[in-house]
Amino acid sequence: MGNVLITGANRGIGLELVKQCLSRGDSVWASCRDIRKAEELYSVGDSFGNLSIFPLDVCDQQSVENAFSQMKSNGIKIDLLFNNAGVIDWNDFNSVTAESFGSVYQVNVTGAFLVIKYAKEILRTCEATKSRIINLSSRLGSIKLRGNTQLGGAIAYQCSKAALNMLTRQTAIDLSDQSISVISMSPGWVKTDMGGPDAKYEPNESVRLILHTLDNLKGDETGVFIGEDGIEIPW
Ligand SMILES: NC(=O)c1ccc[n+]([C@@H]2O[C@H](COP(=O)([O-])OP(=O)(O)OC[C@H]3O[C@@H](n4cnc5c(N)ncnc54)[C@H](OP(=O)(O)O)[C@@H]3O)[C@@H](O)[C@H]2O)c1
Repeated sequence: MGNVLITGANRGIGLELVKQCLSRGDSVWASCRDIRKAEELYSVGDSFGNLSIFPLDVCDQQSVENAFSQMKSNGIKIDLLFNNAGVIDWNDFNSVTAESFGSVYQVNVTGAFLVIKYAKEILRTCEATKSRIINLSSRLGSIKLRGNTQLGGAIAYQCSKAALNMLTRQTAIDLSDQSISVISMSPGWVKTDMGGPDAKYEPNESVRLILHTLDNLKGDETGVFIGEDGIEIPW
């Protein structure tokens, strides 16, 4: 049991992370960019006393700074942070626009960076209880796996997740002296608004695997890229 913070928690994988973390006894801080779109999240809160919901747009630096400085002044310490908020543009090389490319990067890369930058202040930093940042990445961000196929696809998303993986590697180094580990994790292909109806996993299956994998890590893993099954994914 611990204190867990999740971004993009109003639907999809984020919402399921909230449910399963609460069910196992964690205290959860669930953020979403528009709390008017968080009806289901609020209804989850009706059954659990240990859920705090707050607005956080990962693209809005002021919003990120305010949210974390308020938590800091309330003395809150987080053990596990899911950098889950993400967007996709399915357009390929020929059809993607520069504007959309930038928007995807703003959420998936710069947004994740801003969350880490300000959340660092409230992550528990002692050797005995190392805190963890989980960046929700994707196998579509693996340069090696992409190199083995002729598929084109969601170019902005793929590039953004490869960049997110570098953010994982670099911040794992930058935060190592503060006992914070940083991991890129793919949730698998999941039936959400993003993953679509043909995906492999229901959200509850993916999240069960994610939490099981995290529970079974040795503890010193940082700067790694793993799947929901715990198996390392090539960068
Ligand atoms: N589903 C899959 O198959 C799959 C596979 C690999 C990786 N992933 C990754 O897993 C994560 C969750 O995916 P999902 O399938 O649950 O996606 P989803 O159903 O589309 O949900 C995305 C979540 O991110 C939030 N979000 C988007 N922009 C935001 C912003 N600027 N600030 C704060 N929140 C923002 C959304 O909020 P709004 O409701 O306000 O839009 C929503 O809560 C993503 O990082 C995704 O790339 C998913």
